[in-house]
Amino acid sequence: MAMTITQLEKRIFAVAVAFVMLLFGFAALAVNVFHVGLPTCLTSVKPFQKGELIAHSPTHYELHYVARMWKFEPEEVTVPAGSIVDVYLSTIDVTHGLILVGTDLNLMAVPGVVNYARVKFDQPRVYPVICHEYCGTGHDRMAASLRVVDAATFRATKPATPSAAATPADPRSRLLIKNECFSCHSLNGVDDIGPSFKGLYGRTRKLADGSTVIADDVYLRESILHPDAKVVEGFDDVMPAPTLTDEEVNEIIAYLKTIK
Ligand code: CUA
Repeated sequence: MAMTITQLEKRIFAVAVAFVMLLFGFAALAVNVFHVGLPTCLTSVKPFQKGELIAHSPTHYELHYVARMWKFEPEEVTVPAGSIVDVYLSTIDVTHGLILVGTDLNLMAVPGVVNYARVKFDQPRVYPVICHEYCGTGHDRMAASLRVVDAATFRATKPATPSAAATPADPRSRLLIKNECFSCHSLNGVDDIGPSFKGLYGRTRKLADGSTVIADDVYLRESILHPDAKVVEGFDDVMPAPTLTDEEVNEIIAYLKTIK
């Protein structure tokens, strides 16, 4: 009786081994026959902080994507058709995912490591880039695009201006840029992840607990240094507390007063 069980176990073991080998076989087939770029987790590469496209030759590029709450950098990339692009992905905060819609590229952005895969682009078209790992309130807004154009169009394209162009050039906003306030707060009156700065000073704010407060110096100081103290109704308590000196807080409040 004991003998029978041993043979049954052997068979189950053999089936399990065969199944695993079949999986490896499919992976090898995908890589060698169908040229699918297998994602690779590089633990020896130091995660980078800057998103950029590096040209190694007119048809070979290295693309560094940085994922963060809640965007990809660079947001827009253009490469010529026929290019081979080595995509490296890192995150500077939580775990994100990156899918290049329309290709096999599917990478995880895991803190502390860099993930890699190679893609070849044959035809001109635009590929949306989206985050596929839930990463917080702004997850569904994490989008970017990769544009493949024909070689002549590519030569005529000027290098993309850095994303800083989207932020105001006013020197008084330097602290807001430095602390990345514009990732969530706009100057144009449109609420985003956080309330817009436009017309904020002096306004009556309705809070999540139903009470109201005037957006004066005291309120703004508290809301900058302790964002969770008074959360405005309709917004999530997601803002990290910044590290600022008293003078810096004063400078920010003085600037906010001018955004009418
Ligand atoms: Cu990043 Cu979801």
